[in-house]
Amino acid sequence: MKIPLYNERQTEALRAAGRANAALMDYLRPYVRAGVTTAELDRLAHDYTVNQGYKPACLGYKGYPKSICTSINEVVCHGIPDQTALKDGDIVNMDITTIVDGWYGDQSETFLIGEVNPEAKRLVQVTFEALYIGIRAARPGVAVIEIGRAIYDYARSRGFEVVEEYQGHGIGRHFHQEPGIPHYPEPNSAKIIIRPGMCFTIEPMLNAGTFKTVLDRNDKWTVRTADNSLSAQFEHTILMTKDGPEILTKTKDGPQPGHEF
Ligand code: MF3
Ligand code: CO
Ligand code: CO
Repeated sequence: MKIPLYNERQTEALRAAGRANAALMDYLRPYVRAGVTTAELDRLAHDYTVNQGYKPACLGYKGYPKSICTSINEVVCHGIPDQTALKDGDIVNMDITTIVDGWYGDQSETFLIGEVNPEAKRLVQVTFEALYIGIRAARPGVAVIEIGRAIYDYARSRGFEVVEEYQGHGIGRHFHQEPGIPHYPEPNSAKIIIRPGMCFTIEPMLNAGTFKTVLDRNDKWTVRTADNSLSAQFEHTILMTKDGPEILTKTKDGPQPGHEF
């Protein structure tokens, strides 16, 4: 089992990828509103990324056809952009990735479109807080299971379930690598100790109903809640330093800890 520990030069490369991806999120942010199609968001993301000389990691990844994932309402993750227009009351996760000089950045946010009902808003709020609770649980010398435990306990205390089949992941010169970062106390993750120089994502998916998910039988990508209840997600790429977690994908204009949706 080999989890890379990145040196100073490599962490600078990771920072550059995280920064570029966060800048993309801020670029897209004003477009995420009622009436825009998810295909239009995908085109904007693709063109912005390519114009900077970078590449979207999702495009062509295991045959994935688009540059970003757009997951609306009961879609948990990996929603494929199409001609669907966002509408008032939707919650939509936009998951974006950038490759800079071979290094990956990966992050997502859930957006509220227009007036959203209170329970959907509470799901988004708790999921956002769960991400930061997970980030704060991550420290050198602590096992990966503590991230999942913190997220899981918080989500359950607020009445939401936590998706198990999709996890955070190590990231670097590959999109997905070890260690897996479960968002629940998965026993094997007790053996993995977090060290300075590790880089990984934390990306909790919380559901208003069951944690169980179903893969779309036609497109083989779109993941939905098994009971069609709402799902929300937030993701950051995290570098572990000797002083604690550094968020590599911090945006300028997006929600920061303490934000109220
Ligand atoms: N960005 C997702 C993640 O957070 C992975 C999307 S893979 C794709 O790990 F192929 F669906 F784009
Ligand atoms: Co990820
Ligand atoms: Co992602």
